[in-house]
Amino acid sequence: MPIFYDEKTKTFKLDTDNSSYIVAVYDENYILNLYYGAYIPESYVPDREKRTTNASFSPVNPVIGENGFSPDTAPIEYGTHGAGDFRISALEIINKNGDSITDIRYTGYKIYNGKKEIQGMPSTYVNNESEAQTLEIYTEDFVTGAEVTLYYTVFPEYDVITRHIKVKNVSSDNMRIERAMSMCLDLPDMDYDMITLYGCHAKERNIERRRLAHGVQGVESRRGSSSNTQNPFVALAQRGSDDEHGDVYGFNLVYSGNFSALAECDFNCTTRFVMGIEPQTFSWLLNSGESFYAPEAVMVFTMGGIGEMSRKLHRFYNNNLTRGRYKTEKRPLLINSWEAAYFDFDEDKLISFAREAKKLGVELLVMDDGWFGHRDSDNSSLGDWFVYEKKLKGGLKYLVDEVNKLGMKFGIWFEPEMISPDSELYKAHPDWAIQIKGRPLTLCREQYVLDYSRKEVRDHVYGMMKKILDSANIEYIKWDMNRQLTEVGSATLPAERQRELWHRYVLGVYDLMDRLTTDYPHILLENCSGGGARFDPGMLYYSPQIWCSDDTDAIERLKIQHGTSMCYPCLAMGAHVSDCPNHTVGRNTPFKTRGHVAMVGTFGYELDVTRIPQEDRDAIPAQIEEFNKFNKLVRTGDHYRIGNMFEDNTWDAWEFVAKDKSEALFEFVQVLGRPNERSRRIKLKGLEADAYYYEENEPDKKISGAALMNAGINIAKMWNGDGLYGDFCSKILHFIKV
Ligand code: DGJ
Repeated sequence: MPIFYDEKTKTFKLDTDNSSYIVAVYDENYILNLYYGAYIPESYVPDREKRTTNASFSPVNPVIGENGFSPDTAPIEYGTHGAGDFRISALEIINKNGDSITDIRYTGYKIYNGKKEIQGMPSTYVNNESEAQTLEIYTEDFVTGAEVTLYYTVFPEYDVITRHIKVKNVSSDNMRIERAMSMCLDLPDMDYDMITLYGCHAKERNIERRRLAHGVQGVESRRGSSSNTQNPFVALAQRGSDDEHGDVYGFNLVYSGNFSALAECDFNCTTRFVMGIEPQTFSWLLNSGESFYAPEAVMVFTMGGIGEMSRKLHRFYNNNLTRGRYKTEKRPLLINSWEAAYFDFDEDKLISFAREAKKLGVELLVMDDGWFGHRDSDNSSLGDWFVYEKKLKGGLKYLVDEVNKLGMKFGIWFEPEMISPDSELYKAHPDWAIQIKGRPLTLCREQYVLDYSRKEVRDHVYGMMKKILDSANIEYIKWDMNRQLTEVGSATLPAERQRELWHRYVLGVYDLMDRLTTDYPHILLENCSGGGARFDPGMLYYSPQIWCSDDTDAIERLKIQHGTSMCYPCLAMGAHVSDCPNHTVGRNTPFKTRGHVAMVGTFGYELDVTRIPQEDRDAIPAQIEEFNKFNKLVRTGDHYRIGNMFEDNTWDAWEFVAKDKSEALFEFVQVLGRPNERSRRIKLKGLEADAYYYEENEPDKKISGAALMNAGINIAKMWNGDGLYGDFCSKILHFIKV
């Protein structure tokens, strides 16, 4: 069993296939972290208990005395605020006396098979009870009456341990939680680089790697959503590690709102890492008897480098986070109207897209923004989820039926969390927008955000959505979210609960997504947020795919998709072939390259198929055939990053390798042609060293996995990609095991 309790040493040992995590109950019921790293057989690592170096003048517990233990220096499992531990804390509760000193001690534990859901929030799940085991460690702050449960679920096969906490108020007074991190981890050294994903609109998830330094460092979002500026992901990678080598810890928060992921390195050169809801925009009044749950954090450890960390998370999310029929089923190949027409469409235009696309092999037409209220630009109608009859003259059902008659599925766009000042909804319910009385409301893309903490608001929006969904055969939804939260106040929450709104908003979004996916399990839900501004594990729980970025340029996408693959499966990345010059960067790239890059993700088209150059249109059937041929391998195989545009922007390459190593798809992009270079030698990854492979087009040339991975292959310089010379050409190779 992956979780052991040793009565003698009062130690919990959590084992995955390749890692161990050890927690001990120390004197005075302090809970200490004794180890997290590669698998070890011992269940007790006493050396870490007494971490005393340089602890002179550190506060000591009066009962334990000066025997070398201090909360200031001990590896506290879940650090609290104000009782001798000065590092960044995981928990802070203001009690009835008004002070915020919090100090939790061990009271008991429970171990069971499987895993419980977290009330009202997305979380990873087990497919069967034997897949994982859960440990609950019970603690209490005896002064304030806060009962804190630390949850750990061990998924041995993925080397993953998930964590979250619950705070229960067992006192007879109210208390206020000011900070409740989902996890806290004390590591005995600070020889790590912190890897994070920063960005902005159309430039999401750039990889940043920095050396840990003394003090606090990390990433946060205070934008109301997980955001594109930082992602709720951090890796702590051993110095010198790379995609193939070195110890790496990965942390990801299953949450779509404000977050903090912070590391503090102290005078002992140890590291504390905390991750959870961002505290500055959080406060929660907990009445006597009530409980509060923090969202789930995912931890993974590997000795196999950053690439292996990514693959473990990919496999884990594909198996234990995404849900519904499209978790495993092939997704319909779609064409989306946004870059094809923006707001300028009517039913005839959409039907013409569908007709042409169907002929070429596309399976689903998505009607993006602009079909509702009186929306002709982005300055109106959000919240008016009824059909804009001027555009769709025959109504929605007529349009969908026509598309269906062509043999195509139909999908639709919503932005359910928003309200335009110019909308019927706003006229009827101006107080439904998140706002603060007396303060001018900041506009962002001409819209406000609905107060999703209010059930009547959610019910009303859902009622409108339901009417639309029940009126026609809709098989796909794109759920968009195009602004950040400002002037965050609710017309109905009492003053003492106003700061709960940030979190209540996220819970409201989850509630609606839950209703939608429960009521319409056949619908494929794709998340989106001004491109990829809410690409997080919380959203992956509801939607198996998320639009990765509004930047559809194949070359820009190389970095965006590479960064996204740090922790998120390729299967989740919304990626389309669009027209050129590209609408975001104005670049021309070969149609073939656009296809190869979109094949990393969900694949689809986002162009006016009736107007693109004939040669591009002619290329689509073969491109779709190629996509269909490799889609299973892309969906179920392991992803290996080979090139890295963040380090060398002249080329990129990656691979999908079947789990049983029987085949591999290798993709290469020659980003910039370089002088005096006839070919480039690229080493493949992830193959079976002892096996022999051949490239599909050269069946007689057998070559060992070892040679492919160690000697590599030569990619000859490419000259002509769709009339473009030298730059932006691409190539794929299919290796099959003999
Ligand atoms: C932002 C999205 O990222 C786009 O794909 C598109 O759906 C627009 N919103 C529509 O307003």
